[in-house]
Amino acid sequence: MKNENLIKEMNVYLANLNLLYVKLHNYHWNIEGRGFFQLHATYEELYNHVTETLDEVAERILIMGERPAASMKEYLALTTLKERESSPIAVEASVREVKEDFEVMYQDTLKLITLSEEAGDPITADMFTGYASEFHKKLWMMRAYLA
Ligand SMILES: [Fe+2]
Repeated sequence: MKNENLIKEMNVYLANLNLLYVKLHNYHWNIEGRGFFQLHATYEELYNHVTETLDEVAERILIMGERPAASMKEYLALTTLKERESSPIAVEASVREVKEDFEVMYQDTLKLITLSEEAGDPITADMFTGYASEFHKKLWMMRAYLA
């Protein structure tokens, strides 16, 4: 199959989004200190956005005639992100951690644009271009917060 590697990397991306979805809940619940109210709400916005994205990626894999990973077992085997223990964390430290994961996601998104183009798939490339733009913008916001 021509796009075998693209599908494989899309499933890794899907696994990472699922991990990110859980991790953003972890921060939403476990942050402590000044800025709680603002970041609590921000993490909710982020995980709601991530769940829309992961659904689009999974459905794109189906449209391409393949099968998306759909179990926690597969996601944990495929992910390149690390899970976070269930423990309190200071607001600013949480933003630093989320920024690290978003940097990984941004770089992976750029790679997926290239893989999609190489597979001759402008629709998938366009989908990932939109995600790259989103991650890039969120990274700017996190850098501004941490400055
Ligand atoms: Fe909540």
